[in-house]
Amino acid sequence: MSDHLTFENLTVGEAQRVCVPVLKAANIDEPVMETRMLLGFVLGGGPERVLADRDNTLTSQQSKLLSDIVGQRSHRVPMSHILGQREFWSMIFKVTGDTLTPRPDTETLVEAVLENVSPPPKRILDLGTGTGCILLALLSEWGDAQGVGVDVSDKALAVALDNAQSHKLDVRASFVKNDWEQSEWTDVWSEPFDVVVSNPPYIPQADIANLDVDVRDYEPMSALVGGDDGLDAYRRITDGLNSLISPGGVVGFEVGIDQAGDVAGILERAGFRVLETRNDLGGIPRAVIGCKT
Ligand SMILES: C[S@@+](CC[C@H](N)C(=O)[O-])C[C@H]1O[C@@H](n2cnc3c(N)ncnc32)[C@H](O)[C@@H]1O
Repeated sequence: MSDHLTFENLTVGEAQRVCVPVLKAANIDEPVMETRMLLGFVLGGGPERVLADRDNTLTSQQSKLLSDIVGQRSHRVPMSHILGQREFWSMIFKVTGDTLTPRPDTETLVEAVLENVSPPPKRILDLGTGTGCILLALLSEWGDAQGVGVDVSDKALAVALDNAQSHKLDVRASFVKNDWEQSEWTDVWSEPFDVVVSNPPYIPQADIANLDVDVRDYEPMSALVGGDDGLDAYRRITDGLNSLISPGGVVGFEVGIDQAGDVAGILERAGFRVLETRNDLGGIPRAVIGCKT
């Protein structure tokens, strides 16, 4: 339906009135806000441009771009892929189809880690770094820390490095390819870390089919699937934790719905003390923080 939309000779205000029902018909939850975001992008600014430019006529190039991206969004291409970025921890992160889009839920992990680590750490390890959002958010708060982001995906690592550079954190952040499924994956580090964080893939295989189309069809599967019960990566990473964390060091995991108790159990069986389980803004236990005794 929206594939043949044309916005030629329409003002910004008129185009807005055309877009909103199109996105609504595609079951987009917030069609007004998303229309403003798409129009703002076309106008070369943010959503605030829409009001300021409402009486201006779109150029032919702007009309074509708008038609293209409204079409994409109504086919449920994620907004972050269309805009190429997402805000996280008040920082802008480049996002591509090779990286998980940073989620507000993950800010819960960042917050919980920041509040459970004292004094500020020197060395941080982020396992499954994706865009680098967790590591870079922590480095933005801990000005003397150095961090390593690990991912199995070369393409994700390239995006994370771009993000580190654009936030001028690349002097303190490095990114390395590694795979926690491989034996001896921890051997590459001779010095332990003060903090290890991870938001690993945690969706049980059987639940993948029921995810929103925006996620299921566009986010990388390797960032989502956590095996039959969703807990494979937690077990695997925890197996390596004793050689990765210094005594008194802290581990922080993001967890999926109903996984906090299981993940706390995995940590305790490996000799860690659970310091806190923190809920996200929706009241779901979302971050489990442990300490090496
Ligand atoms: C849920 S995403 C998290 C991305 C980012 N940290 C965030 O919070 O937005 C999980 C990440 O783990 C990576 N990953 C999956 N399996 C891995 C493995 N065996 N070894 C290392 N990284 C892995 C994926 O490529 C993906 O970037």
